[in-house]
Amino acid sequence: MPLLPPASDSQSQVFLDSEGDNWFARNKAAIGARNSFHETEIIKRVLEFDRDNINTVLEIGCGNGAKLDDICRFFKAEGSGVDPSSAAVNSGNESFAEQHKTTLKLHIATASALPFADASFDLVYFGFCLYLVDRDEIYKAVSEADRVLRNGGFLAILDFDPMQRHKRPYHHKPGLFSYKTSYADFFTAGGHYYLVAKDSFSHSADHFSTDSDERVSLSILYKETDPY
Ligand SMILES: C[S@@+](CC[C@H](N)C(=O)[O-])C[C@H]1O[C@@H](n2cnc3c(N)ncnc32)[C@H](O)[C@@H]1O
Repeated sequence: MPLLPPASDSQSQVFLDSEGDNWFARNKAAIGARNSFHETEIIKRVLEFDRDNINTVLEIGCGNGAKLDDICRFFKAEGSGVDPSSAAVNSGNESFAEQHKTTLKLHIATASALPFADASFDLVYFGFCLYLVDRDEIYKAVSEADRVLRNGGFLAILDFDPMQRHKRPYHHKPGLFSYKTSYADFFTAGGHYYLVAKDSFSHSADHFSTDSDERVSLSILYKETDPY
């Protein structure tokens, strides 16, 4: 059964309507100027041992897919991405697949309603978007990622990772919030996911931040084939 669209006043809908495009307009030049990314280098290093089995990759909150493209070229994998920004998705679909000859397809969608079949990915990557997901959609986002990731696959989560859970007004639009919490815990707490690796850095630098509010982490989890 298809999932319902987000409520018209939800943060997801605001990102579909405007804020996704606004994020992309603010950041596309900076993304385009880079040819390597700290977080994707970690994913490649940690998962290189299973390279032959990583053939399908999904990035949730992919922007224009620049990082997804980097991951997919390394693993020689097919890439799918979702983002609420039509500008980012259209731009990525036009440029990256052609430029690098990878199989990359981006879709306009949000984390809480993924347009993919069950167990269709070997690696699912939350690309720094869970902090923007409405709190009454967060378990849908967790459930959707779990649904589309095969048993024995990997889940990577890039997001804020403060000492204490809290929310902050979203700088760019009144009425929206950034929700900061340890997102890997949503998956590991049930015992079905095992923490393979975690790297802690910050929003502004590639090393650990003593300021808990600035902390960002990349967690790589393994989805157990038989958790009992
Ligand atoms: C901080 S950016 C990260 C973009 C890209 N992954 C990167 O690392 O450059 C957050 C992205 O999440 C997207 N986003 C916002 N709300 C979302 C949601 N509910 N589901 C999926 N993506 C969302 C935004 O449009 C934006 O592209």
